[in-house]
Amino acid sequence: MIMNNQTVFSKFLLLGLPIPSEHQHLFYTLFLAMYLTTIMGNLIIIILIYLDSHLHTPMYLFLSNLSFSDLCFSSVTMPKLLHTMQSKDISISYASCLTQMYFLMVFGDMESFLLVVMAYDRYVAICFPLHYTSIMSPKLCVCLVLLSWMITMLYSMLHTLLLARLTFCEDNVIPHFFCDISVLLKLACSDIYINELMIYILGGLVIVIPFLLIVVSYVQIVFSILMISPTRVIHKIFSTCGSHLSVVSLFYGTIIGLYLCPSANNSTVKKIAMAMMYTVVTPMLNPFIYSLRNRDMKNALIRVLCKKKISL
Ligand SMILES: *[C@@H]1O[C@H](CO)[C@@H](O)[C@H](O)[C@H]1NC(C)=O
Repeated sequence: MIMNNQTVFSKFLLLGLPIPSEHQHLFYTLFLAMYLTTIMGNLIIIILIYLDSHLHTPMYLFLSNLSFSDLCFSSVTMPKLLHTMQSKDISISYASCLTQMYFLMVFGDMESFLLVVMAYDRYVAICFPLHYTSIMSPKLCVCLVLLSWMITMLYSMLHTLLLARLTFCEDNVIPHFFCDISVLLKLACSDIYINELMIYILGGLVIVIPFLLIVVSYVQIVFSILMISPTRVIHKIFSTCGSHLSVVSLFYGTIIGLYLCPSANNSTVKKIAMAMMYTVVTPMLNPFIYSLRNRDMKNALIRVLCKKKISL
């Protein structure tokens, strides 16, 4: 073993997607379209909620935050992927790689925290409808959002700093389309015990606890509806929490598929497909899930458009 910790690579090679070169153009167009849809969909939601005062309720302010982090989340990976596919330049500097990893964690975990905050909001709305406005005060909402941002930033910073102290030796090829922490750890040639320990402990806290909190609030919601109208449980849940439940299933479904399916960890292609799912597909679908069946959003769109016409 050569112990040379001066061998510092200034670059990584991002192999990108395993797509045959004759299909590159097709996939490039597809990803570009998906990325633009993500940007448009989420921007429309943010602007609509900002412009329409009827939507200045905790639920929609949280949704606007979710859209913002979806937008940023896919902007961390997609432009680089599209650029790589176009220019065939697969290198990425060490600093960009760590930066990408940091922001990916920030926005990914933010989504998980926002889903908890939104679940709590639904829980209060259903279980304490009369006290809703006094419990979900603007002050509490801002605190919840700020707290979520602070936790995710600290958490991501910790992982990034822990990774920055590692040395990387011979192998600088990343068989993925973004700098994923698990892939980077595989390339490191120093001891990664602490990094892995932190991933298990803190990763558990950031993913498992939010998931449990969401489950607990839904259990409470189901019980409280059962007390009032046992026959209409399903209908009531879907009318008030349908969108939130769909987003939660999509988000945690992918994570569970990725980490709990043993076969998914073995094959690179499967891993990339799953990563595609949570970095590209989920952020693209969230705005549609929230706006399609939602009368408030449709009315807001009509109001905003009509106002524009009158003012013109
Ligand atoms: C996020 O939520 C907070 C608290 O409800 C709100 O004040 C803020 O405007 C939201 N931010 C965005 C970008 O939607």
